[in-house]
Amino acid sequence: MAEYKEISPNASAGEKLLNWVDNRFPASKLYKEHLSEYYAPKNFNFWYFFGSLAMLVLVIQIVTGIFLVMHYKPDANLAFASVEYIMRDVPWGWLVRYMHSTGASAFFVVVYLHMFRGLLYGSYRKPRELVWIFGCGIFLCLMAEAFMGYLLPWGQMSYWGAQVIVNLFSAIPFVGPDLALLIRGDYVVSDATLNRFFSFHVIAVPLVLLGLVAAHIIALHEVGSNNPDGVEIKGPNAPRDAQGHPLDGIPFHPYYTVHDILGVSVFLMVFSAVIFFAPEAGGYFLEYNNFIPADPFKTPNHIAPVWYFTPFYSMLRAITSEMMYALIACVVAGAFFGAVKSKLPSFLKVGVVVGALVAVALMLSIDAKFWGVVVMGGAVVILFFLPWLDHSPVKSIRYRPSWHKYLYAIFVVVFVVLAYLGVQPPSPIGERVSQVGTLFYFGFFLLMPWWSRLGEPKPVPDRVTFAPH
Ligand code: HEM
Repeated sequence: MAEYKEISPNASAGEKLLNWVDNRFPASKLYKEHLSEYYAPKNFNFWYFFGSLAMLVLVIQIVTGIFLVMHYKPDANLAFASVEYIMRDVPWGWLVRYMHSTGASAFFVVVYLHMFRGLLYGSYRKPRELVWIFGCGIFLCLMAEAFMGYLLPWGQMSYWGAQVIVNLFSAIPFVGPDLALLIRGDYVVSDATLNRFFSFHVIAVPLVLLGLVAAHIIALHEVGSNNPDGVEIKGPNAPRDAQGHPLDGIPFHPYYTVHDILGVSVFLMVFSAVIFFAPEAGGYFLEYNNFIPADPFKTPNHIAPVWYFTPFYSMLRAITSEMMYALIACVVAGAFFGAVKSKLPSFLKVGVVVGALVAVALMLSIDAKFWGVVVMGGAVVILFFLPWLDHSPVKSIRYRPSWHKYLYAIFVVVFVVLAYLGVQPPSPIGERVSQVGTLFYFGFFLLMPWWSRLGEPKPVPDRVTFAPH
């Protein structure tokens, strides 16, 4: 138990109240640890806006969500009309709904940029592995949250999108059909599915999400923030002032609270512009087919998920039975290098060969649709392992060999092209391009232990580089 602190009888009423609270709850201690005495590197750039923006969007989604639930009806016969009622009759309902639907896309824009910043500056590396892993957990939760939320308006895209994705689970050998049944609660997407998705969307997933965000921030504040130079400002040899504060750090409050207000202002301008002038964003944020009530007897011509899922959806569609041969060739090549070229101990080499033989046998015997699901899931799961895949001697892209920049640029282009192809109807050219893109995406990560070591890194400074404005 913390020591009871006495306060002078002459103190102001506010100070007395704070002292009363502090003796019962660590309010001042938390404020100091996480704000006024949390020292963050002084060289943050605009990439560092996106963490606080993600928190802002999280709050927007929760608050608008609470108001939507007051009028929304999770019933297959009433859901679509209740959303129209919110849009037309509930005072300000249209604004609340557009904030929530635009907020979903904004969340992914912000989080993708936030993750890319981590990639650029090696923020996932020691000692921030857990910050990154909690982040990846958050990303998975966000995907689940967005997917289940999209069923709720009960439009054609809601219905058929859920139908397509839930059916994918039935491709899993042995347990698949039962698993799909469990998820739907019925043999097709129905009222039972709507109810369970509603329950998960409004309570189960947000609870996990909030817990993970808390863990993410606690882990970050335990080790301290990284920065664009990738230089540790709190490391054992980092310079410190007489009080022991890092010389390259500044207190989060007021410096970065003010910095973040700038980010928030710009974000809110763009966010409002979309809400007021283009809430459907040309069919990307709200798909046109979703303005038609769900009809289980009429499949839309073209079913596409919302843009933030499409890079992964493209990877799913890329796995045709023809593509399986390319994947088998990759497994064989990987096993060859593991067994012949690597310096692994011989029992591990045997393990690699046996593992590869089993993998090839399974790949030949199970349908490509299942492997599509594995690839789509694997594309997200692989992110969890990033801290152990990157073997570069330096963290930040600034001090890596220059060609790393081009590689990252190609990675971004490939990701955007995959996203674009995922919204388009299937075509032979699109299929080929997405196959090449999928191979590049996995190659980028799986070959990282090799390529990240190549080339001569530039000298890393001892202190962060900072030019005052
Ligand atoms: C709801 C979603 C999220 C919220 C609210 C959130 C919040 C934050 C905040 C406030 C920071 C500190 C400020 C900053 O560095 O920008 C941060 C840092 C960080 N986040 Fe997130 N985050 C989220 C999702 C993610 C995801 C999905 C990942 C990665 C998969 C991730 C990885 C990181 C990393 C590596 C850092 C440390 C960056 C550094 O010090 O350079 N975060 N996050």
